[in-house]
Amino acid sequence: MISKRVSELLCSTAGYPLAREYDIKIPGAVNLASNENPYGPSPAVLRALKRELKLSGLYPDPRATKLKQAIGGYLGVGTDCIAIGNGSDELMDLVCKAFVDQGDRVLIPLPTFAMYELSCVPYGGKPVFYKLPNFEWCTDELARAAKNTKLVFLGRPNNPTGNCLSLDGLRELLKVGAIIVVDEAYVEFAEDSVAKLAAKRKNLIVLRTLSKAFGLAGLRVGYAVGNPETIKILERLRAPFNVNRLAQVAAVAALRDQRYMRRVVARIKNGRAYIRRELAKLGFKVLPSDANFLMVDVSPLEIDAPGLCDFLVKRKIFVRDLSDFRGAGPNYVRITVGTPQQNKRLVGALKKLKGGR
Ligand SMILES: Cc1ncc(COP(=O)(O)O)c(C=O)c1O
Repeated sequence: MISKRVSELLCSTAGYPLAREYDIKIPGAVNLASNENPYGPSPAVLRALKRELKLSGLYPDPRATKLKQAIGGYLGVGTDCIAIGNGSDELMDLVCKAFVDQGDRVLIPLPTFAMYELSCVPYGGKPVFYKLPNFEWCTDELARAAKNTKLVFLGRPNNPTGNCLSLDGLRELLKVGAIIVVDEAYVEFAEDSVAKLAAKRKNLIVLRTLSKAFGLAGLRVGYAVGNPETIKILERLRAPFNVNRLAQVAAVAALRDQRYMRRVVARIKNGRAYIRRELAKLGFKVLPSDANFLMVDVSPLEIDAPGLCDFLVKRKIFVRDLSDFRGAGPNYVRITVGTPQQNKRLVGALKKLKGGR
């Protein structure tokens, strides 16, 4: 018989809000809905994959030794502070498996990434939602909301708002005593990481991924950084071969070619500034972002998010309608920064929207 916890989950409305046009391969379509990296991985990754393919019959290294060494070098932390996951999604699940008991309160600021809720509920966690006032971070309020919670999920930068709780704010939050899980999926597009701090602090876990800046979303490589005791627990809980052979070599090659990653990140940041500037000129309200996407209030153009998405879909441009994101409301979309050509196509289409009204 199905467990009580899972039957509760199946009855709830919580679900991963997949983009409407997810994975539709229409020729000439531009997908700016999924926060993928439009440049893909470094050519060195493709070469490494080709070499490794012939070993596909062999199990991967269950300790992911080379990958841990590469990540340790990248961040400046010891390999005993790193656990590898099948994407950071798996690590969210493992963290909840390790720390969330039936009835534990888990603080989730809104709007945010749906996986935080979906990861804690199967373990009996009770999500406590805290709506960000004007989509901004207010340390005092957040720290108050975190009282009597077991764990706090914090996107830094946050998806979809794109902004970050300040470093001082995070330090305040750590004093509350809950386990703070900082999701740094987009940190390469931002200013500062707290991964090094996590290696020392007992109640801080940082989650990172190679899906975004390194362009490996299809291969599923994420990692957790924490103090060695926390990491030991995650290591005990994960399946031995959770990260496949191809993913491991691809991630090592990606981390060895940081010049490529930095070049790509610089281009995406330029694109982010371009879209923000052009959309503001058209009258949209664009929130500042430290990530590879922008959250945009479309209501100044007298349209709502589903309406704007429909308009763009007809032009084969997909952006993320946030009206089904908990806490975002009907007027917001999230736009992933694309290549300069893709960004221009988006801006051109939105100019037509404005011109037609
Ligand atoms: C905030 C955030 N964290 C984590 C992830 C997932 O990362 P991964 O591909 O490593 O599972 C995403 C994916 O979109 C995300 O937006």
